Parts: sequence; structure tokens; C-alpha cells
Amino acid sequence: MRNTVVLCFMLSVIGQCSCVESTTNNHPIIGVLAQEKVLESDPQLNTHVSYIAASYVKFLEGAGARIVPIMINKTDKYYENITNHVNGVLLPGGDAQFDAPGGYSEAGRKLFDHAMKMNQAGDYFPVLGICLGFELLTFLAANNVEHRARCFSYNEALPLQFTGSFFTSKLFGNAPSSTIGILGKENVTANFHRYCLTEKNITELHLDEEWQFMTTNKDSDGLKFISSLEHKNYPLYGLQFHPEKNIYEWKKGKVHPHSANAIRVSQYFANFFVNEARKNAHKFPIEPEERIHLIYNYPAKYTIDRTVFEQCYEFEI
Ligand SMILES: *[C@@H]1O[C@H](CO)[C@@H](O)[C@H](O)[C@H]1NC(C)=O
Ligand SMILES: *[C@@H]1O[C@H](CO)[C@@H](O)[C@H](O)[C@H]1NC(C)=O
Ligand SMILES: *[C@@H]1O[C@H](CO)[C@@H](O)[C@H](O)[C@H]1NC(C)=O
Ligand SMILES: *[C@@H]1O[C@H](CO)[C@@H](O)[C@H](O)[C@H]1NC(C)=O
Repeated sequence: MRNTVVLCFMLSVIGQCSCVESTTNNHPIIGVLAQEKVLESDPQLNTHVSYIAASYVKFLEGAGARIVPIMINKTDKYYENITNHVNGVLLPGGDAQFDAPGGYSEAGRKLFDHAMKMNQAGDYFPVLGICLGFELLTFLAANNVEHRARCFSYNEALPLQFTGSFFTSKLFGNAPSSTIGILGKENVTANFHRYCLTEKNITELHLDEEWQFMTTNKDSDGLKFISSLEHKNYPLYGLQFHPEKNIYEWKKGKVHPHSANAIRVSQYFANFFVNEARKNAHKFPIEPEERIHLIYNYPAKYTIDRTVFEQCYEFEI
């Protein structure tokens, strides 16, 4: 059942009680965006198939959410519908191109615009971007201006370098000190990116007016890049590293931290984001509609021989 908590506070000046309703939705459903396949990532390319790596799905399921896959190449009405019915959106990593028509970034554009509109209207709607999804968030926030730096932080696990503002951030402000301790000292964040976002990149496009970063890292050439950021007013978060891989990916030769501490800190990010989704009260109008959208309608395939992922969901475009 949804719990409704009514918070009242006295407006002493005019002597009235103002009541703000805040919702705890313990049935959160999160939309996870699919993406087109890129040739080099899958030799058995079928251009009419899009995919979601199952690790993102399990990551959120493990924190108490159910998942709705969000397809690419749909009408704006479709994305508006989905955002009206789910409690948040995850933009996964991958290697889609931002200028590919009908793909991941076009769908991301529509989702982002609806998410911004809802948040501006006071409807708390969280979005989490991971790796490519982190880069997509700032690309969209910069009105589709490509601003990423080429870099190389691929197949390495790093500790986060916290900046002074991390402890007042939403993402880390309430984190247990043991979580911050592990993240700051141990090689627990899995990096697989060839693009980076630098401080210069966000100031150049004035993104620093609305976004703040909480952690940085250095790539193999010593280039300092932003490894986590959040919107200053709305629940929009980006992680350059992959918390989901620690728990769910095992590809040989890939640096996936699997220590108990690495798992624990990954679960911190999942719990944080699903908790954000619990603050949103959207739902599907009727149960049968919810059921046809849930990811349980699709089989997770064992794809380790042809991808870097243990399991993937595949969808016909
Ligand atoms: C939008 O949602 C309504 C009601 O939930 C549904 O009838 C309609 O088919 C949906 N439209 C699209 C484009 O998904
Ligand atoms: C998107 O859909 C249109 C038809 O609605 C199709 O012609 C086009 O090939 C699709 N694009 C992708 C990238 O699948
Ligand atoms: C983290 O990894 C680097 C190499 O990538 C290594 O030099 C360093 O010793 C590791 N640190 C810890 C605490 O394991
Ligand atoms: C992004 O950052 C890199 C490295 O700091 C820089 O070379 C590049 O010019 C920047 N691009 C923009 C648009 O800020």
C-alpha cells in the first residue's frame, strides 16, 4: 500500500497550517532505456534489434524496483506516456552514437525533456545516467552540444576522489561514512569509457550553473575527469563508472571489482536511486497495462559468448 505522509508546519505569521503531501511509493517501477547495437560490440549484429544489459535491470530489482523496458525509435507520445507511468528512468551505458537517428540519444532527448518538465512542475521524477548515460545527461542538458573530451579510462577500477561539495550533495550527503571510506580508498569503481567530461567542459557550456560534481578521477594520461554529478535542483544523477558491473558482470579479462566492499558500495547506489523513485507516485492506470509493460514479458538471454554482458534482453525495433 502507498503510505501518505502529511507534513504540516505552522506559518506563524498568518497563523495557518499549511499541509504538504509527500508520498512514499513502495511499489516503484523504473524505466530502463534500450539502445541500438553497434557493429563492433556484437559481430552477430541484427540491426532490427535493440538491447538492455540485464545487469542494469537486476541492479534496480535488487533494491526493490520493478522494471519497464523503454524502446528506442518511438513517438514522443510513447515517451510521454512512459514517463507519466513510471517512477524514474535509468539511462544505461553502452556505445551508441549520439548522432544516430532513431536511436538511444533521440529517445533520451524525449525522456529528458519530459523528466525536466515534470520536475519543473513539482513532480519529483528521478533520472540516473550511468557511463554513456552519464555523458548523455550532460549532452542533453547542453542542448545536444557534443562536448566530451577523448580520454582513456578503460578496464580499470579506481577509488573516487571526493570534492569539497560531496557531503552536502544529495547523492552522498546521507551515505554512511563506511561507504564513503570504501569509495575513497579502494579500487571499487569500474571504469570502461573512452570519453570523459572535464571541469572545463561543464563550465564552457555553463552547465555548472545547474549541475555540480562530487567526485573526480584521472585517466591513464593523468586527465582529470568528473566521475559523478547531480543537478542542483532536480533528482538527476550521473555516474561515469558502472556500479551494476560489480555485482552482475563476470566477463573474463574485464576488471569487475567483486570484493564484499565493492558489492556493498554498488548496492548503496542502487538503494539510493530506488529510494528516489519511491518519492514519485506515478502508476499505470490499470494493472493489465502495467503487466504488459513489465520486463518479465521478455526473456533474459545468456549472451557472454557474443557480448561483454552475462545476460541481455533483446527487442525487435
Ligand atoms: C498512451 O497511453 C494510453 C493510456 O494508457 C494508451 O491507450 C495509448 O495507446 C498510449 N499511446 C502510446 C503512443 O503509447
Ligand atoms: C525507426 O522507425 C522507422 C519507421 O517508423 C524506420 O524506417 C527506421 O528504420 C527506424 N530506425 C531505426 C534506427 O530503427
Ligand atoms: C588499485 O589499482 C592500482 C592499479 O590499477 C594499483 O596500483 C593499486 O595498488 C590498487 N590499490 C589498492 C588499494 O588495491
Ligand atoms: C572538453 O575538455 C577537453 C579537455 O579538457 C578539451 O580539450 C575540450 O576542448 C573540451 N571541450 C569543450 C567543448 O569544452
